[in-house]
Amino acid sequence: MAADFRHETERLVLRDWREEDWALFWEGTNTPAVMEWLGGVCDEAKRLAAQERLLSYQRDHGHTFWAVERKEDGAILGFCGLKRCNQAGGPVGEMEVGWRLREDAWGKGYAKEAAMASLDLAFDRFGAEQVIALTVEPNAASWGLMKRLGMERRADLDIASSDFGADLIIVYSIAREAWKQIHG
Ligand SMILES: CC(C)(COP(=O)(O)OP(=O)(O)OC[C@H]1O[C@@H](n2cnc3c(N)ncnc32)[C@H](O)[C@@H]1OP(=O)(O)O)[C@@H](O)C(=O)NCCC(=O)NCCS
Repeated sequence: MAADFRHETERLVLRDWREEDWALFWEGTNTPAVMEWLGGVCDEAKRLAAQERLLSYQRDHGHTFWAVERKEDGAILGFCGLKRCNQAGGPVGEMEVGWRLREDAWGKGYAKEAAMASLDLAFDRFGAEQVIALTVEPNAASWGLMKRLGMERRADLDIASSDFGADLIIVYSIAREAWKQIHG
């Protein structure tokens, strides 16, 4: 069995999901504000399917959108991490970074801190040459983070899909060299 995944940043731990995390995760993040550009609040069937997907990414690839735990108090803030793009019509198989935090954890730099750790891991541990991220135009918090990380808009990879509640899924990316140049 693969070793448990656990990665610490200054204020956070990115780690494998535990059974007891799920209720806390959904309590914090299955809200209209958090889910606005993710298809809306999820019913139980969707929640269970999402959990199973997150666990399968870890089993299949050794990485997933990991649980994000705050060191200070052990709170589950949401998820952040790496999957292989599986968006129909998209660059399937590419390393993809993603994030979702509960509302009271926004605006504190936690998402950026977790995302920077995830991109470091993508390039240093998981051998990615490029990492992509997907969102929709109205989700300024998400593409704003992509830009702050140094990712570039990739209109050539955009996906005509309404899966996230807009007509188009927009794509950002960063290559290993660019990441190393910006972040050392
Ligand atoms: C997307 C999402 C993760 C972004 O979270 P975020 O908290 O805005 O992002 P960051 O961690 O980069 O924080 C940036 C903000 O924290 C502030 N901040 C406070 N302390 C900070 C610190 N120590 N370091 C960095 N930024 C800090 C910044 O000034 C900035 O605030 P501003 O947006 O008012 O300028 C969050 O909005 C979210 O979970 N949304 C719902 C789910 C979702 O849509 N996910 C993406 C799907 S594609």
